[in-house]
Amino acid sequence: MELLTLAKAELRRSNADRKHPFRYFYFATLGEFPEVRTVINRKVDLDLTLTFFTDARSPKVQQIRKNKQVSALFYHPDKKLQIRMNGLAELVDKNHGDFDRLLNEVKQTSSLKDYTTLQAPGSSVPDEAELLFGDEVYFLAIKIKPIKFDILQLGREGHRRSAYAKNERGEWEEMVLVP
Ligand SMILES: Cc1cc2nc3c(=O)[nH]c(=O)nc-3n(C[C@H](O)[C@H](O)[C@H](O)COP(=O)(O)O)c2cc1C
Repeated sequence: MELLTLAKAELRRSNADRKHPFRYFYFATLGEFPEVRTVINRKVDLDLTLTFFTDARSPKVQQIRKNKQVSALFYHPDKKLQIRMNGLAELVDKNHGDFDRLLNEVKQTSSLKDYTTLQAPGSSVPDEAELLFGDEVYFLAIKIKPIKFDILQLGREGHRRSAYAKNERGEWEEMVLVP
């Protein structure tokens, strides 16, 4: 199977399967250093746009405001499948058409509290101080629109690696690479 087809099938499978290894991915932004962190994959669209949730005050959001170029890394241990995605981040805030629907999704869960700390994420907490929560909800969703994929699968009979970029017709074009 072509590597992008395999990658897409697994990414889409992770929408329904909570135990799927692609439920988490590693998300990189450009700050003073490359900044990478674990996030929860909330949705993979048919066009492979990814969505995850965050706190609007978090450093990753400030980094995206300066530079939309981001990367996502997925690894499936059983299939020995690595997906590296480069793309452009889009902030889904109050002005975005999808904001209310996504906020409502979060309101159905206990994780709404995650977005209500009085101090911004990453702020220092004085010794033995309690973490305080307020009424303001600093929820934000981030979408990643893919621009390029680098997909690698290790296998006993040989490793496979391909890069994909969109051609002028908007189709993913494959370039087979040395693994
Ligand atoms: C298992 C796991 C899942 C996480 N999921 C998210 C998430 O979905 N969104 C998020 O903003 N941070 C998530 N985090 C926390 C981030 O890894 C990171 O620590 C936090 O977002 C601050 O990142 P920043 O300071 O670079 O903005 C998760 C951490 C772990 C360990």
